[in-house]
Amino acid sequence: MYINRKITRLSCILAGLLLGVAVPSVAQDGETIFKQNCAACHTVGKGRLVGPDLAGITSQRPEEWLIKWTRSSQTLIKSGDADAKAIFDEYNGLVMPDQNLPDADIKAIFAFVASKEAAAPAATSAPAEPATNASNHAMPEEIAQGRNIFVGSQRLINGGPSCISCHNISYKGIIPGGLLAKDLTTVYSRFGGDAGIQGILGAPPFPAMTEAYKNKPMTEKEIANLTAFFNKVDKDKAGQQVSAQNPLLYGGAAGFVVLILLYSLIWVKRKRFTVKRDIYLRQLKSI
Ligand code: HEC
Ligand code: HEC
Repeated sequence: MYINRKITRLSCILAGLLLGVAVPSVAQDGETIFKQNCAACHTVGKGRLVGPDLAGITSQRPEEWLIKWTRSSQTLIKSGDADAKAIFDEYNGLVMPDQNLPDADIKAIFAFVASKEAAAPAATSAPAEPATNASNHAMPEEIAQGRNIFVGSQRLINGGPSCISCHNISYKGIIPGGLLAKDLTTVYSRFGGDAGIQGILGAPPFPAMTEAYKNKPMTEKEIANLTAFFNKVDKDKAGQQVSAQNPLLYGGAAGFVVLILLYSLIWVKRKRFTVKRDIYLRQLKSI
């Protein structure tokens, strides 16, 4: 009896110690994981960035929902979850990239989010930081440099690949780019201005880009110039759409001709093969 009580008391003290020590350290881990994977698009209590401010989210959504969402928001949306669909629609169908993290890491992130809420409850209702869109005042040379970096006529200082190898952008004088990733014509407004773009380029949260710029980060200046260029393209897009139609049309026509040529080549080869084969078979028979 006595021993039992002693053990219970001991384990209570132990648990208390563990909690006292473990909770802050989990939250700290969570902070690192958050900074690495989420901070390009989310703040906690500092307003909307690319995605919503996550302050208050842990009391708004069950943990299980948060884990599912973070793992793959699109899967959750497709499963018919009304909340998931509503937030996706609110953000104009911007896709949050799937975060391939273990449950423990995701829990740590939200423990950190919750700890920040507790530390600064007033921040939840604070308005978004005023956007300081410096790229609105970019010099023409800076926009031109951003353009050159995009198409690859100016190399990135740390040697990363040019954007056009994976991305297309509709802008005068720029040849069609890669189709591996999204079209960036309206990316500036879709990501809500300078902060969104710079968050993405400073620490790209998409696996293909993370890989491409690992150990070859863009410099602040390069990122600023690219941002200025995206801002300009987005602003000018109304005038671009008309002229963008023609190259596409011509491209389509050219593609058609190439296809016809290709098919006729394949067809000619096939015909030759069968003719030869016929003769060969006939000769075989006549022997
Ligand atoms: C590339 C930008 C981007 C990254 C990186 C990103 N998110 Fe998101 N997130 C979004 C967007 C945009 C939305 C709004 C919903 C939508 O458009 O799908 C969102 C929505 C959310 C929501 C739903 C909020 C609500 O009101 O229900 C949660 C939770 C969330 N993100 C958590 C995370 C976590 C955790 C990480 C890091 C592990 C992360 N996000 C990384 C862009 C991002
Ligand atoms: C190796 C291929 C690759 C290269 C090179 C690359 N990206 Fe990406 N990028 C991607 C992929 C993949 C995505 C994520 C999903 C998508 O947009 O299809 C992405 C997403 C983005 C996004 C978010 C787009 C959106 O609307 O969700 C931006 C902004 C972006 N890239 C900018 C750039 C810039 C600027 C460069 C050049 C400095 C660049 N990328 C180079 C592959 C690449």
